[in-house]
Amino acid sequence: MKISASFLSSNYNLEDTIKYLDNSSIDFIHVDFMDNTFVPYESLSLKDLEVLKKSKKDLDVHLMVNNPLKYLSFFSKLNTKYLTFHYEAVNNHLEIIDKIKKANIKVGIAINPETAVNVLNPYLDLIDLVLIMSVEPGRGGQQFISNIPTKIDELRKLDKKILISVDGGINKDTIKLVNTDIVVVGSYICKSNNFEERINSLRS
Ligand code: DX5
Ligand code: ZN
Repeated sequence: MKISASFLSSNYNLEDTIKYLDNSSIDFIHVDFMDNTFVPYESLSLKDLEVLKKSKKDLDVHLMVNNPLKYLSFFSKLNTKYLTFHYEAVNNHLEIIDKIKKANIKVGIAINPETAVNVLNPYLDLIDLVLIMSVEPGRGGQQFISNIPTKIDELRKLDKKILISVDGGINKDTIKLVNTDIVVVGSYICKSNNFEERINSLRS
């Protein structure tokens, strides 16, 4: 299981957080980006996020926006491995998938806690990753929603090879409930004063 660290609710400034994450054993940095369209919040600006250019880690970008293509060129200039948009946020899924692929980035679709996995049926063969939200998108530090493990198992039955990631409320206890390829972990790592100790407790 790979760990993707979200810095959305980090206790430290972005530059220090990136430095600590770069020196840690996490697999990816999870970048939550919001522009007050799909969710009523704004994350750090693109200008702020430019500091990610210094990071050695692969980026796992989670766009909580209504127009993901607006940000494609920015994220294609960073070390973006996965670019994930929300199923609920758009109407032009196929066009978005196509344009992300043409930028040589792997494509993910995220689904909100109340969205059924079978809406993904038309897209599973075209994408690389499904991000299952285990909290409502928008904020770190929320509680893991208990019916999500069943949903993960349903998706695994639908598609044996797609990468599955889960995002929200993951800590050393809830990680045991999810059978995914990637876990996104925010506050459990970035609100701690010893990132590596938390990462080790997730892996054990
Ligand atoms: C929520 C974000 C998450 C969030 C996870 O909208 O997508 O990535 O930062 O934070 P925790 O792990 O604190 O739930
Ligand atoms: Zn996220």
